[in-house]
Amino acid sequence: MRQIDVLIIGSGVAAFRLACQLHHDINVMIITKSNIKESNSYLAQGGIAAAIGDQDKWEKHCTDTLMAGRFHNDPDVVRDLTAAAPSLIQSLAQQGCPFDKNEQGRYLLGREGAHSEKRIIHGGGDATGKTIMDYLLLHIPDHVKVMENHFVYELLVENNICHGVKTKDEKNICHYFLADHVVLATGGCGQLYRYSSNAETVTGDGIAMAYLAGANIADMEFIQFHPTLLYTNGKTRGLVSEAVRGEGGRLVTKIGKEIMRGIHPLGDLAPRHIVSQTIYEYLSQGEDIYLDISHIKAFSKRFPTISCLCKESGIDLEEKRIPVVPGSHFLMGGIQTDLMGRSSLQGLYALGEAAYTGFHGANRLASNSLLEGLFMAENLAKWLNSQTFTQGSRKEVLYRQKLPDEQKGKPLPSIVEIQNRMMDYVGIVRTGADLKAQLRWLESYRGMHNQIGNLDQMDKEELTRYFMLITATLITKAALQRTESRGGHYRSDFPSEDDHNWRRKLLIHSRKDGGNSL
Ligand code: SIN
Repeated sequence: MRQIDVLIIGSGVAAFRLACQLHHDINVMIITKSNIKESNSYLAQGGIAAAIGDQDKWEKHCTDTLMAGRFHNDPDVVRDLTAAAPSLIQSLAQQGCPFDKNEQGRYLLGREGAHSEKRIIHGGGDATGKTIMDYLLLHIPDHVKVMENHFVYELLVENNICHGVKTKDEKNICHYFLADHVVLATGGCGQLYRYSSNAETVTGDGIAMAYLAGANIADMEFIQFHPTLLYTNGKTRGLVSEAVRGEGGRLVTKIGKEIMRGIHPLGDLAPRHIVSQTIYEYLSQGEDIYLDISHIKAFSKRFPTISCLCKESGIDLEEKRIPVVPGSHFLMGGIQTDLMGRSSLQGLYALGEAAYTGFHGANRLASNSLLEGLFMAENLAKWLNSQTFTQGSRKEVLYRQKLPDEQKGKPLPSIVEIQNRMMDYVGIVRTGADLKAQLRWLESYRGMHNQIGNLDQMDKEELTRYFMLITATLITKAALQRTESRGGHYRSDFPSEDDHNWRRKLLIHSRKDGGNSL
């Protein structure tokens, strides 16, 4: 067993920013299930939103965030974060993070959907996540150990206090790590869906583990479907940033009809849920949808990552059309925390997409996710830097007694089956009937929940499928409970927002209330 002061699980910007900000006398370990360059952060194209333009004010950023979130956000959280964004950018830039600037040294600001101003700071053109990650990785201090290819599969919790984790290494051998503070920076759950912009590793493990450990999980029904994923030969191939529409890209049918005209005052830059639902309607009628880039000058220079992606997928950019479909992109809900990342369990924290803070509301405003992850990481670092640590004095911890597995469930479904069913039954347009059918299907694996005492016996692939089912169940249950449509949660049987019953009403799931069954 190893005793660590701060154990960080995951390898995106929030994880690395936290690690970089912790004092040098703190013993820090980062554990990631694959390698440090495999994360949603690394793939992030668009940028970070901050009101630093001459005409801009943080209050406008705040209003745009609330409008995109359909006023389901926590207004205090939105105020704190949008007000802090400009100084957060300045401090990263002053420390050396190379955001894109013009010849006069001023930030090049992009525009994205539902923003009333140009306020997207970017790096490497359309490689903002990579730019920040490469900068952070260069500055990882010596007191931070990084352990790759270790799959964390259980949180060690006793009396509502988290004391560490169990992991499986590459050979499926089990290890214990004890820690004073355990931070889940494991991202969301995009890979629960057939079409997704997310890294392959983003399968909802952190949320499922936190749920199993008894933490509060909130707002799981709110999944953002990004309107434009590159689509060829029946598969999505990665994100085509909203910044492309910000530079003049238009969504069109095969014969060139502009599909967002007359749908929303912001047209192609309407909030993402509106654009995705509109594309979905066309696709359901058998139409293909394209992003027309003929209005964008020097496309390959401004969007090198997307140009490369198109080339690799056999799309000829000379034709000025990129075939697209919507796909899962971001989870607005997650492990309920405050803005320092503190969850409902002592010693357990969540940062970034794994966390629910109330910032995003029912639908996240573009380029607010890196912002939230970085902001929370800095807050948590300040707090942890003020704590005292047990310095390895805790030798023995009692853990939940594992019971023998008496009642085996049927074999778990495949990853592809889970992804297909979530896309078809709990996707962009939902109905009560579909949600009930999906819940019945998920609950037919109820027997598997008796294996909770025996996670040690599952290999990493089985654990992944098991966690996917748990996270899928949390999403489906919440989507069935919320009998309205709002932001990323659209039900055709309840197509309107119901402010009276549902605005700011959180659906919180906790294993304490629900017992063993999901
Ligand atoms: C994009 O570049 O379109 C994605 C950025 C984001 O999700 O905020």
